[in-house]
Amino acid sequence: MKKFYVTTAIYYVNAKPHIGHCSESISADALARYHRLKGEDVFFLTGTDEHGQKVAKAAFEAGKTPKEFVDSVVKPSLELWKLLAISYDDFIRTTDERHAEVVTFLLNDLHKKGELYESEYKGWYCSSCEAFWPKNQLEGNTCPECKRQLEEISETNWFFKLSKYQDWLVKYINEHPDFIKPGSRRNEILSFLSQPLQDLCISRPKSRLEWGITLPFSKDHVAYVWFDALVNYISGIGYLKDKQKFNKFWPADVHIVGKDIIRFHAVYWPIMLRAAGIELPNTVFAHGFWLIGKDAEKMSKSKGNVVDPFELINKYGPDPLRYFLLREVTYGLDGVYSEAALVSRLNTDLANDIGNLLNRTLTMIEKYYGGIIPAPAGTSLRSEDTMDDELKALAGGLAEKIDAAMAELDFAGALASIWELINRANKYIEVQAPWTLDKQGKKDRLSDVIYNLAEILRTVTIAVSPFIPASAEKMWEQIGMTEPLSGTRFPDIGKWGLVKPGTQIKKGAPLFPRIDTKAK
Ligand code: ME8
Ligand code: MG
Repeated sequence: MKKFYVTTAIYYVNAKPHIGHCSESISADALARYHRLKGEDVFFLTGTDEHGQKVAKAAFEAGKTPKEFVDSVVKPSLELWKLLAISYDDFIRTTDERHAEVVTFLLNDLHKKGELYESEYKGWYCSSCEAFWPKNQLEGNTCPECKRQLEEISETNWFFKLSKYQDWLVKYINEHPDFIKPGSRRNEILSFLSQPLQDLCISRPKSRLEWGITLPFSKDHVAYVWFDALVNYISGIGYLKDKQKFNKFWPADVHIVGKDIIRFHAVYWPIMLRAAGIELPNTVFAHGFWLIGKDAEKMSKSKGNVVDPFELINKYGPDPLRYFLLREVTYGLDGVYSEAALVSRLNTDLANDIGNLLNRTLTMIEKYYGGIIPAPAGTSLRSEDTMDDELKALAGGLAEKIDAAMAELDFAGALASIWELINRANKYIEVQAPWTLDKQGKKDRLSDVIYNLAEILRTVTIAVSPFIPASAEKMWEQIGMTEPLSGTRFPDIGKWGLVKPGTQIKKGAPLFPRIDTKAK
């Protein structure tokens, strides 16, 4: 059985997640669900990044100890992932003992191998981004990332010999075109690597920061939060503790991360793994940002311009939010969020397109067949109408299109190809006009048209299930399918004739009620 291991970045717990974080979790979830549908053995890991200065500062401001604080903030995240049906297989917290053990082991290992050294460090530091900035990247004394004031800091620290791996890494990236995606990010990293690589400071003196994992060989230091956090990808699947699980799932198939943290994942992480003698992940995929406002600024906790996902879910339900975030932009690029755009997607793609296809079809099955899916009479086989063949061909080619899109994490592309079928089916209803067939007493033709529509609904439901899982479950129930949706497999998409004539449908409330935009 093929395995598939996907991760998200682990989120800082200095504040509640916003829709940018949701977007990352939702895309990883859609990918995991798609691979499960393909029959693969999937492991989907997410979690929280709980050490470091950001969190220590937020805890201090909340009047709590760091541990009390992280425990209180992790709860709403878990609640949110549940509401959004994020189907992770494990949730790793960097304060978990199982994680700290692996970080400690790796630190010791690299120390023994002579990869670490102690040195005096002086540099310009941003406490918000927790990053030192080389003088040559600075304009004035502000952080190039967040524009906050930098502090000049001098202290004794531990360093990791990144520089000696620079040539190896460049060669590796050149020889593995799938290692960094999309291509624009790969170019960005190669360009970064065309400059001399500085060794990485992997410790923080306890005098400045106590909230972290103590270096096993230096009691006065904690591990730099990034050295700690990256290790989650292996500690979360049992490195050291569960060899069988680790060997099965590692290397990761894809680390999904935002473009702001690509350097950590495509430079520091592979070098850490290489130095420790561990295989590299297959792909690091960097997505873009959700922007907001008329100036299209990055949505961020530190800027305070975030959109609260709980509010949106309350108002519209989880699936419209999932659908919008997956469909609105090409994955990898930035997207501008607005509630109006979300409502527009809901009203057109969901209410009008898929919602109407479901409702009209089920209404006709009730009206003409008392709620029982009819047996097809076979007029399609006599090619009475080429539209039947076109519809079947489109359904038959759908799986391949979804595969091609998902291989590139092109969620919008996968959805667009499903919607092509949905829209064709809606067109089919208009052109075939079952109400006229009924009036004219063309019973054979009517049964074929209705059966074809039931088949399209079945196909569409399986196809959308990785993206809008709760709605797919409801559709499945409404079209009267008795075997569980989770038991279906991807190749059933587009196979013709799997709906059993005689199936009793269970039409329910519309899944995606239109939002009245005029009322506002
Ligand atoms: O960086 N749009 O955590 P984080 C899209 N703990 N994605 C966004 C976003 C936005 N507006 N804002 C944030 C960290 N993200 C580290 C990761 S991994 C070993 C450690 C994404 O909570 C961001 O790009 O700041 C990142 O991938 C993720 O949310 C977590 O960000
Ligand atoms: Mg961030």
